Amino acid sequence: MHDFKYKKSELFAENVPARKIAEEVGTPVYIYSRNTLLRHLNAYKNAFKKHPHIICFALKANSNGAILRLLAKNGAGADVVSGGELYLALKAGIPSNKIVYAGVGKSADEIAYALKSKILMFNVESSDELNAINGIAKKLKVKAPIALRVNPDIDPKTHPYISTGLIESKFGIPIKDAVENYSVASRLPNIEILGIHKHIGSQITEVRPFVDALKKVVALAKKLNDCGINIRYLDIGGGLGINYNNDSPPLPKELSKALLPFMNAQNLKLIIEPGRSIAGNAGVLITKALYIKRHANKEFVIVDAGMNDLIRPSLYNAYHNIIHVMKNARKKVTVDIVGPICESGDYLAKNRRINRVIQGDMLSVMSAGAYGFTMSSTYNSRPRIPEVLVKGNKYYVVREREEYSDLDSRVTLPDFLK
Ligand code: LLP
Repeated sequence: MHDFKYKKSELFAENVPARKIAEEVGTPVYIYSRNTLLRHLNAYKNAFKKHPHIICFALKANSNGAILRLLAKNGAGADVVSGGELYLALKAGIPSNKIVYAGVGKSADEIAYALKSKILMFNVESSDELNAINGIAKKLKVKAPIALRVNPDIDPKTHPYISTGLIESKFGIPIKDAVENYSVASRLPNIEILGIHKHIGSQITEVRPFVDALKKVVALAKKLNDCGINIRYLDIGGGLGINYNNDSPPLPKELSKALLPFMNAQNLKLIIEPGRSIAGNAGVLITKALYIKRHANKEFVIVDAGMNDLIRPSLYNAYHNIIHVMKNARKKVTVDIVGPICESGDYLAKNRRINRVIQGDMLSVMSAGAYGFTMSSTYNSRPRIPEVLVKGNKYYVVREREEYSDLDSRVTLPDFLK
């Protein structure tokens, strides 16, 4: 469910016409709905309210400071994977005791920063990393709270690039080696074991892989408790899918219904790390058709947003629904919708059926609120685009469009070139 709907023949973001924002702020532009974001967060809160839990929003999906502040004010924690994300989470007012930190390559500086910030826990991905954290914690004279990220070897049945729980992936510690790793961790003087972490992939559209993975980690928690290692938190990662194109992912309440029976007998606090299912359908990318071009039997719609603004189609061949901002009754045609970047892989849609697009039309790329702006770049030296947050009948620019001068603001010239 989202708040980007036609009223008569015009697309609205909540109660603001998308056209108005595009005209006043310019295109391309990301637009987010406050209502949708909160509805999605609340769906998780309600679904899991019967069990102690923390919802740690995955910043990699969307780390705009206004959105983070909105989620923070409504009780969200954060799942971060870099010092930069930790900085943004703290700056947005997310309490440090609701922040978990994952990622296979945390640097010494990042570890020290997180320890000083007193985050809830590190989700540790290797024994080398565990030793590094122990060493840095010793220097800082603190104990580092940790969970080990275990890899439960479950097939999430999603795109291979975003599936992380299989044995061949670089993430986590194989579940069969978990007990051994936990017992090593329990002997490290500056490590405090708090929990178990797992994350099996993203855009998962069935409940089954979540249940299978949970059963494995609950069994592990019992085993560890039997060995005298006290597990207090079970962090089950993110990964719930959204509807991009006739997908029918489970709702948070369906997920909780399937998962909580395995949790209830356990005295474990649950951590959930949703990203896409909170932000994905809460955002669209508005772009303008610059030119129409016909080759032999192919029609291209060239728009002003490129793979540098939204890379998911190019990188994963991901499908994003694309609709006209102003509805029309033109004939349906099959076109490639492509960007201005000098790469053949720069497209938003291929062989797409859409009412004919003419020069100057505005199009809305749907489900672009997660992994849209956060994966954008300035490739081809294109300044990054603005982000707008809509609340009711008002809109707010929550990130300004970059200028050309931003492109080289950190460039320095050696003496011999001055
Ligand atoms: N927790 C961990 C440890 C993760 O690695 C991820 C995503 C999440 C939570 C959030 O997952 P979500 O709820 O958003 O599915 N760029 C790709 C997605 C990469 C996801 C990486 N990890 C895309 O655009 O589809």
